[in-house]
Amino acid sequence: MDLEVLHTPVMVKEVLGFLPNIEQGVVIDATFGFGGHAKAILSRYPEIFLIGIDRDWESIKRAADTLRGFGRRLAILHIRYDEPGAFDKAVAVAMEVVEASSKTTIFPVAAVLLDLGVNSYQLDEGSRGFSYTKPGPLDMRMDTSKGVTASQFLQEVSFADLKELFYENGEYKYATKLAKEIISHNPITTTQELSQIVEGVIPKSMRRRGHPAKRVFQALRIAVNEEITFLADALGAAFEVLTVGGRLLVLSYHSGEDRTVKNKFSLFATGGCSCPKNLPCRCGALIKGKLLTKGSLVPTKEEIADNPRAASARLRVIEKIQPIYLKDFQ
Ligand SMILES: C[S@@+](CC[C@H](N)C(=O)[O-])C[C@H]1O[C@@H](n2cnc3c(N)ncnc32)[C@H](O)[C@@H]1O
Repeated sequence: MDLEVLHTPVMVKEVLGFLPNIEQGVVIDATFGFGGHAKAILSRYPEIFLIGIDRDWESIKRAADTLRGFGRRLAILHIRYDEPGAFDKAVAVAMEVVEASSKTTIFPVAAVLLDLGVNSYQLDEGSRGFSYTKPGPLDMRMDTSKGVTASQFLQEVSFADLKELFYENGEYKYATKLAKEIISHNPITTTQELSQIVEGVIPKSMRRRGHPAKRVFQALRIAVNEEITFLADALGAAFEVLTVGGRLLVLSYHSGEDRTVKNKFSLFATGGCSCPKNLPCRCGALIKGKLLTKGSLVPTKEEIADNPRAASARLRVIEKIQPIYLKDFQ
């Protein structure tokens, strides 16, 4: 099956545009999904090695079969990119595959790509429990072999925390009522039940921004999978394994994710200097990166027309530089 049917990769042209001259390199695709970006990168650079990471075994299984043609240039790890040591593991595997291929040159980590969130197959397959329109168990785990399902999460979470979760995700007006109604209906075991509860809370007149359950499902999914909890640390670990001149590219789809990426990139690019703005730096701030995107890049109108799910994408890219003290720069 054509993998694009299951997930259409986002901003591929822009991603490739930020990967010049990586012929003798290793790329870590930390959110491999259906391998759309991986395939584009491996095809563009016939010498590189790519290590994919994904926590969803189902997605890996479906994608891996179709990408067999890349042989040993592609290895996929079923782990979380945000678990301790994940990027070191990816580097260790890269070293093994490069060695096994009898290459004599050193292949540094030239790029790490993170295309955050869920893939379209996860969203569209009712049995995974992410869909507010398709019937299924209220699961929402990307890795179905561990962790708590969305149904269990709702039974364990406090009213205050649930209200906060919805509020943070943009349900300013209905956060309290949603949390109250949902908790009073526990246990909620199917996606349909949850959708109906949300529809009962949010009046028809307030549904101009799409299906009322969309943001509620998104907020729950992010919480169940701890999508933002360890993101900042993971960005640090990804940046760490890059060679000088290597690039970290992050595509995010949610304001909370993008804020985390922006803040972390800004820390790499400024060293987190805490000195007064009009005085030379005395705090020892060390600059480690150069921002390659001014703010963030968004998809073209044409791409959004072809793939509406790309609409919320934001791409940020930073290049690792030889560390320099901010004071030596001023
Ligand atoms: C937007 S999709 C990536 C799609 C991919 N770029 C492509 O072209 O097919 C995000 C993927 O990241 C995976 N994912 C999300 N969080 C993860 C984590 N913490 N560790 C590993 N994989 C994760 C999801 O399972 C999903 O397959």
